[in-house]
Amino acid sequence: MSPSQQQQQQQQQRLHTRPPHPPSSSQQPAASSQPRMAELTPSHALLSTLSGKHVLLTGGSNGIGASTVRLFASLGARVTFCDLDSARGRALAHELGPHSARFEQVDVTDYAAQHGMFARAVEHWGPPDVVVCNAGLPERGDIFSPSADLNKPPDLTVLDANLRAALYTARLALGFMRPPAGAGGALVLVSSVAGILESPGLWVYGPSKHGVVGMMRGLRSVALTEWGVAVNCICPWMTSESAASVSFLSLLLLFFAKRGSRGCG
Ligand SMILES: NC(=O)c1ccc[n+]([C@@H]2O[C@H](COP(=O)([O-])OP(=O)(O)OC[C@H]3O[C@@H](n4cnc5c(N)ncnc54)[C@H](O)[C@@H]3O)[C@@H](O)[C@H]2O)c1
Repeated sequence: MSPSQQQQQQQQQRLHTRPPHPPSSSQQPAASSQPRMAELTPSHALLSTLSGKHVLLTGGSNGIGASTVRLFASLGARVTFCDLDSARGRALAHELGPHSARFEQVDVTDYAAQHGMFARAVEHWGPPDVVVCNAGLPERGDIFSPSADLNKPPDLTVLDANLRAALYTARLALGFMRPPAGAGGALVLVSSVAGILESPGLWVYGPSKHGVVGMMRGLRSVALTEWGVAVNCICPWMTSESAASVSFLSLLLLFFAKRGSRGCG
């Protein structure tokens, strides 16, 4: 086993292993008014109930999205996923097989194309139980560069891909998951640390990801209480190319998809 595989296995084991006993009262921290970190314990017992669920995920051909598609499929879910990158998307769907995964080449900034994908997915596997809004682009260029030509409008492709398209996905997810079309479910949005912290230089990416957090904050109470759809948002820090860190984020996504908790970032 290579060192990176060993590292990945150790991380998976840590994630899947609960401590045998809760800490004794003498080990527990004294109650204080300090805000406490939420505890997150993904486990196979928790996640295995995703078996048979229909998951729809955007941006599934590469990175976190591809890793998440694999994890959902490994837990017995049926995954509809889309991406601009059809070569990798088709290869992944082929690898997982037609009972586990369907791929469509869709540009998520095109509302009609996303709507068509949702409609075909529902026709094939019924309303989704989980929608993961993952597709996104990193910063492009420098719109505030002192040498930028002010006669030309700035390139806001990143805003379109990360926020406008995410609003499309959220709207379609809620429309197809809430009754009477569906039976409720979980919508997981993917923002970024740049969506909650100052990120000088990420001039368009930062606002786009703040917008995703804002969408979660606006939707979460209404979506859960009125429509039965839990809305959560994860805010990853920089993810290395290593499979371990990408898998970790995928587990987080799965956790929120399963837990269906009231929205949190
Ligand atoms: N990797 C990180 O360090 C990191 C950190 C914070 C947030 N994120 C967010 O996590 C998500 C996944 O990131 P990743 O690192 O896996 O990126 P990635 O580039 O590996 O994957 C993103 C996927 O989205 C697809 N995509 C982009 N625009 C699209 C469009 N218009 N229509 C359809 N598909 C489109 C890409 O083709 C790609 O396959 C993104 O939303 C990203 O902003 C990533």
